[in-house]
Amino acid sequence: MKIIVEKEGQNMTRELSALQKARLGYKPKLPKVLRNGIKNLNLEYGVPTQAIADADDVQELFPNSYGKPMATFTSKHDAVPNKTTNVGVILSGGQAPGGHNVIAGLFDALKEANPDNKLFGFLCGPAGIIDGEYIEITGNLMDEYRNTGGFDIIGSGRTKLESEEQFMKTWNTCQNLNISAVVVVGGDDSNTNAALLAEFFLEKKAGIQVIGVPKTIDGDLKNDQIEISFGFDTATKTYAELIGNIERDANSAKKYWHFIKLMGRSASHVALECALQTHPNITLISEEVAQNKTSLSEIVDYMTNIVAERANRGKNFGVAVIPEGIIEFIPEMKSMISNLNDKLALCEDEADYMALSTKEEKREYLKNKLEAHNAEVFASLPESIQAQLLMDRDPHGNVQVSRIETEKLLVEMVQAKLTEMKKNGQYKGKFSSQTHFFGYEGRCAAPSNFDADYCYSLGYNAFALILFDVTGYLSSVKNLTKPADEWIAGGVPLTMLMNMEKRHGLMKPVIQKALVDINGPVFGELQKNREIWAYEDHYLFTGPIQYYGPSEVADAPTKTIQLERE
Ligand code: FBP
Repeated sequence: MKIIVEKEGQNMTRELSALQKARLGYKPKLPKVLRNGIKNLNLEYGVPTQAIADADDVQELFPNSYGKPMATFTSKHDAVPNKTTNVGVILSGGQAPGGHNVIAGLFDALKEANPDNKLFGFLCGPAGIIDGEYIEITGNLMDEYRNTGGFDIIGSGRTKLESEEQFMKTWNTCQNLNISAVVVVGGDDSNTNAALLAEFFLEKKAGIQVIGVPKTIDGDLKNDQIEISFGFDTATKTYAELIGNIERDANSAKKYWHFIKLMGRSASHVALECALQTHPNITLISEEVAQNKTSLSEIVDYMTNIVAERANRGKNFGVAVIPEGIIEFIPEMKSMISNLNDKLALCEDEADYMALSTKEEKREYLKNKLEAHNAEVFASLPESIQAQLLMDRDPHGNVQVSRIETEKLLVEMVQAKLTEMKKNGQYKGKFSSQTHFFGYEGRCAAPSNFDADYCYSLGYNAFALILFDVTGYLSSVKNLTKPADEWIAGGVPLTMLMNMEKRHGLMKPVIQKALVDINGPVFGELQKNREIWAYEDHYLFTGPIQYYGPSEVADAPTKTIQLERE
């Protein structure tokens, strides 16, 4: 077990911009029910819940934590019983703006309940709790990170916390530090691990609670009760600023088509939200592609037709937004990737495969192992994309789509199609392109007021759930399109979000990703305007996130949440 002590003061010795200094003093807003104080709460339970799908299988795997009821905080003016509670916190997976405020809310609630309570931050994600590497979060340290972006107070990581051995080590760390609750701040995969850990502690009667906090810029960890994961608001506003700047450049120079890939490993919420904020000429939505079973060549035809028609109208420029996960939604690609994943995960011929020394040999070898139709699709791709598809999976078995240059693949294919059309006299324009990938640019931005308030509330609420002996729940704060005063705080059982899915070639219980609903109002808004935005230029320039100023500018929630909830 290693404690790192020299963390405090590190941030303060760095030079701070005027905005950084001002933001340190921002006081995040809490829902009214939580503002009454951590000791003045009552937790009311609703009816038992069901898993989103495969309920019997999920119940069998979570006999101790399955089906718990929804929980909502109300005010109470009798003090709740108090005890000394040490809590451990883990930041897991990709960074998302507001993570530091989750810790700040948790810290403030914990100290308000009892100044002797301690908060331990595990370093570099789940690996920190497994290996017992941590820091104690002190008041001074916390004050250096309030309302800041990034996860650097303790770092993050993608280690999968799922084996019996890892759980035993985690238990050991908790016992050494007298920790009775662990807060896991993560996306769907990390909160799946949180659910497994909660079940393990219940089965062992370890007396350690586990609470999850919904994090991911991808916006795909949500249901009726979890309105949005934190970070989505700030990240999409950051990308929208950049897309708007590019639109203005495109419209000024009138000589480039910009193909912009946006993060969102699976769902297209980020691309859809950014499209509604900026009105690009082309927006691809992965879920629509899957629904319509659109092939890669049909996508290319769709894009090429818009490029050609704009050229007819004298516009040899434009902006196209492409969700990063699209590759896995195109039917023939999906089948090929799944076949590839199974071959890689099951390592049927691992020894033979490992013995191959060059990338070329490995590619050839795998190509021959795929089913014929998948091998054909694989072979049709440029070598660079083939190599990207063969890169290591993340620890959860996912293809690392952020490393697949779909934007370049599409440019190449559109270009080829236009050349063909030119030969036939069907196209007379000029096609010059620029490609971009926005992801890391937004994941650590200073949280918007929305994310600063939401995250602080989620953290504070997580400790309130701990006080009420809850485990296997996700911290939930909802009614988010209303002022923070009216937000509703409570908890959602993690098993409610789960179903069975194939991972590493085996069926596993996992939190189901919430994909874009193509029959829903958010996609409907894009659909209504798409044709107009393709040819007439209705570009919108959102500008940088505003932290101060009129509430309709500084506190506005995303279009997605407004359209979904109002
Ligand atoms: P989480 O789901 O862990 O929040 O991460 C999401 C994400 O930002 C995706 O949008 C992106 O594909 C991925 O992380 C990139 O991962 P990495 O940081 O490992 O490059």
